[in-house]
Amino acid sequence: MQLTNDPVLAARALAHGHLAVLPTETVYGLGARADLPRAIARVYATKGRPADHPLIVHVLDSACIDDWADTVPRYARDLAEAHWPGPLTLVLDRSDRAADFITGAQTTVALRVPAHLLMREVLRLLGDLTSDPSIGIAAPSANRFGRVSPTTAAHVVEELKGAFSEDDVILDGGASDVGVESTIVDCTGIAPVILRPGLISAADIERTTGLRVGASSTVRAPGTLASHYAPRANVRIVDAASLHRTENDGSTGLLALSEVPTPDGIVRLSEPADTDEYARVLYAALREADALGLTTVLAVGPPTDGIGAAVIDRLTRAAHP
Ligand code: TXA
Ligand code: MG
Repeated sequence: MQLTNDPVLAARALAHGHLAVLPTETVYGLGARADLPRAIARVYATKGRPADHPLIVHVLDSACIDDWADTVPRYARDLAEAHWPGPLTLVLDRSDRAADFITGAQTTVALRVPAHLLMREVLRLLGDLTSDPSIGIAAPSANRFGRVSPTTAAHVVEELKGAFSEDDVILDGGASDVGVESTIVDCTGIAPVILRPGLISAADIERTTGLRVGASSTVRAPGTLASHYAPRANVRIVDAASLHRTENDGSTGLLALSEVPTPDGIVRLSEPADTDEYARVLYAALREADALGLTTVLAVGPPTDGIGAAVIDRLTRAAHP
């Protein structure tokens, strides 16, 4: 495995069917060419991910949408226009290009145009190398199944180093800007439905499309499990007022906005100034708790507007027994 910041090396590795860990604005992805079943099989094996959990296909721009999807409603095009490149994934009826080994045999495909400049450069270079401008890179978050997503290249090295071959590449693009995964929107019905919250909020989607976000979806998103994003430490969501009643024997960490004071004997994992920073530091703080050998992480959630809903979603899953 080679650690580099040269996108050419990552694009070449992918072109040859190897894995490339790629920086995105949300979290790091474990990338492989979306048209090579053997490369995709390695993605599943490396993560320990069940075969029926479909992968997000990352493409260079919205011109690729009709190559990968069959029926694209007007509101999906509006979302792509407004939020791509960016942390938004659209679930659409698939075209023949989106094979069973990508979609977990579902009839839909998840598409995203990422914003990170190095990732975009890899997509462009891979398009050149393969003479296929609509080439897709399938990339789940580069963590083992059920664990905390990585927001730095160092997190990936730490967690997956034994799993790579010498031809695989880790592309270091710095710490991820957003810090939690993309918003996933089911675009197969008459109105958009959020399958996974992220930076692009329900209010953003309603503003862009002029439609009310639907409450329920018939689409299965098998990766959105009740228990996910879990560190080894037990996560408990608490309110700031109850903090003084908690045990503080040095094995408990606290994650809360900076306005929340740290009780004596509790290890402050992070003190983000606002909700955006909370999202950015969330996964690194959960990893830090494990590195320190803490048994418990107390988390005081941020307000639920903007990316706050996504932070609380991740904390709730991390806290699930
Ligand atoms: O921000 C992100 O989306 C990151 C970066 C690397 O792009 N990727 C990511 O991938 O979070 P992953 O595999 O960890 O999560 C993908 C989620 C899973 O919950 C999966 O079930 C859902 O997307 N998904 C993928 N294809 C789908 C489909 N066709 N229908 C419904 N859900 C789908
Ligand atoms: Mg994931």
